[in-house]
Amino acid sequence: MTTAHRIALIPGDGIGTEVIPPATAVLDAVGRRHGVSFGYDEFDWSCQRYAAEGAMMPDDGLDRIRDHDAILLGAVGWAGVPDHVSLWGLLIPIRRAFRQYVNLRPITVFDGVRSPLSGARPGDTDGGVDLVVVRENTEGEYSEVGGRFGRGTDGELAVQEAVFTRTGVARIADYAFDLATRRRNHVTSATKSNGIVHTMPFWDSIVDERASAFPGVTWRSEHIDALAAKVVLDPSSFDVIVASNLFGDILSDLAAAVAGSIGIAPSGNLNPEREFPSMFEPVHGSAPDIAGRGVANPLGAIWSASLMLDHLGHPEAGAEVLTAIRETLRTGETLTRDLGGTATTDDLTRAVLDRLA
Ligand code: NAI
Ligand code: MG
Repeated sequence: MTTAHRIALIPGDGIGTEVIPPATAVLDAVGRRHGVSFGYDEFDWSCQRYAAEGAMMPDDGLDRIRDHDAILLGAVGWAGVPDHVSLWGLLIPIRRAFRQYVNLRPITVFDGVRSPLSGARPGDTDGGVDLVVVRENTEGEYSEVGGRFGRGTDGELAVQEAVFTRTGVARIADYAFDLATRRRNHVTSATKSNGIVHTMPFWDSIVDERASAFPGVTWRSEHIDALAAKVVLDPSSFDVIVASNLFGDILSDLAAAVAGSIGIAPSGNLNPEREFPSMFEPVHGSAPDIAGRGVANPLGAIWSASLMLDHLGHPEAGAEVLTAIRETLRTGETLTRDLGGTATTDDLTRAVLDRLA
């Protein structure tokens, strides 16, 4: 019996359009081995569309993808369109309307990829770097509450409110603790309750409350500044890190840098209740400096497709893709330029596909 999934593809701009075909090729290949088939509907929502039609996506855009099983996104962003337009015109509406309140960012050091930290060991070895940042994705510091007053005067001021709800903090904490039970049973919660005296103690107390439902998981709370230093000094000490929207955003880029290349890092924007489609995307942007040359690293998009397989209920298929990535990197025969090689996007994609054949 074959399970069929309908996927909305949003390649976006720049190398986004170059890394999505490798991801779908890998999905098709691994799906054949596991009785899973994929149908794709492609949408041209992008900065290019914005330039032509004045909007990143059509007015009824969300309705057009609401019933898909998942969304696979390349990257958006291009010269001439301010970054806040591409973000607030596409990504943030999708994340919020579809209640994708978990931003999941697994980070590992792969054998064959040079970490800027000399001591960082591969994630599949003892004492290696293998962690997941669970970032709150819909509230917190990235709120629309606030304003500017007295523009252009000496008294000009700006106020931006952080919004934390009991529901929002409890559900992200629950997700992190539950994830830890399927990993190494440890959670680190990012806080700053010494400086941010209302929202962060609130965050801390709810995380503490939720922790009691997971007696098998140990956890600790760390101030974001010390935590950031520790990600650099001792990255292998982390399993699951749970953090608010802003702290999680910064930490996940820092941790991805520790792993060695932004071209590999994946992410999932998850609606764990599955009321709406979840969205999977590489962490990198549209990389205008290398776009159009066929040299982009497709592994971030391919690993994102692996996260999508996990979410859609095919964890064995997802794990096979991750193994194919790991083995391809380990041999070091086919690496794109960001990894110190000379391979093209197609070469690296074929190397991964060969391992899935
Ligand atoms: P970027 O991630 O596009 O590029 C940063 C550097 O990493 C560049 O030198 C690029 O060549 C390299 N790089 C990134 N991905 C790569 C890959 N797969 N293979 C090889 N090299 C890779 O970040 P940047 O330059 O800050 O942003 C460019 C545009 O992308 C901006 O418009 C930005 O707003 C947008 N962006 C979009 C994101 C999204 O769609 N979620 C995320 C980050 C940035
Ligand atoms: Mg970021």
